Amino acid sequence: MKDVIKKLVEAWGPSGYEHHVRALIREEVEPYCDSIEVDPLGNLICTVGSGGKKVMVAAHMDEIGIMPLFREPNSGYLRFSNIGGLIQTSLLGNRVRFEDGTIGVIGAHDYFGAGRTTLADYDVFFVDVSDGNGSDNIGPGNPAAFWREMSERGTRLIAKSMDDRIGCAVAVEALRRLNKQTPNTVSVVFTVQEEVGLRGARPAAYGVDPDIGIAIDVTSTGDMIKNQKMAVRLGGGAAIKLGDTGHVVPPSIRDWMVQRAEADGIPYQLELLTLGTTDASGIQIARAGVPSGAISIPCRFVHTVSETVDLRDVEACVALLVGLVANPIEL
Ligand code: CO
Ligand code: ZN
Repeated sequence: MKDVIKKLVEAWGPSGYEHHVRALIREEVEPYCDSIEVDPLGNLICTVGSGGKKVMVAAHMDEIGIMPLFREPNSGYLRFSNIGGLIQTSLLGNRVRFEDGTIGVIGAHDYFGAGRTTLADYDVFFVDVSDGNGSDNIGPGNPAAFWREMSERGTRLIAKSMDDRIGCAVAVEALRRLNKQTPNTVSVVFTVQEEVGLRGARPAAYGVDPDIGIAIDVTSTGDMIKNQKMAVRLGGGAAIKLGDTGHVVPPSIRDWMVQRAEADGIPYQLELLTLGTTDASGIQIARAGVPSGAISIPCRFVHTVSETVDLRDVEACVALLVGLVANPIEL
């Protein structure tokens, strides 16, 4: 599974430009699906089974990044705006990669002074794409994603885009383990444009028309120094969401997940997130409403290039997802 994780986290795919990630995932899941479809927005919908409850599982393919807006005159510097929720203090000196492989480096105003300490707005930043020869292949309208290779430290995996390629990897692995055997109708949707407002999951949920929704996404942890108190910790197992800023999980969904985890001996913890939400909050308001929950992978340093997860938590999330959809569902 580690090979798939590496392939997915190192792939290029800022919101709205998920085509490379989609191709990689399609290749991985093709043998394990009864049908595969790409909807008009680019969501990859992979379905297995035909009876029971209709379950939509969502994991988003897109990642945060930058969108160049204009070139500063006579320079290789591009001004940019954000794609998704960038953390200003993580930008200076960071590297981005454009679709053609060009690496850009992010700089900021007043490098010798205030730029080191106070970086408030995106408009103090620029990205250097000069190649020393005056070529201008990269310009406004060419989006970039952050660039870093995956690293390992014991059971920890560290990479850009764990949000949410680790969720994609969990869903891919679940499809593989199910091997088309389920009493339910399970549509795993690899969604587009989550980071810019759940814009893929909502129309996908309308099309799939599920009875139940489950998002697979990362969640922050409360186990860092001098941070907000939060019960989730790295290594504490699959996080079963109770709620976040966009979503109150119905008690019936919570109990379904908790009982499954206990029956199968899967380590789990309960999650309440006060910053952010997931595709589940989009699915729950599709059509006449869809009871939805989420399985979250605990992750430190979310929205930096060093998003850190623990492989034991990842395994717990796969086991929980498989257990939920491989058994008859009575809700
Ligand atoms: Co995110
Ligand atoms: Zn995410």
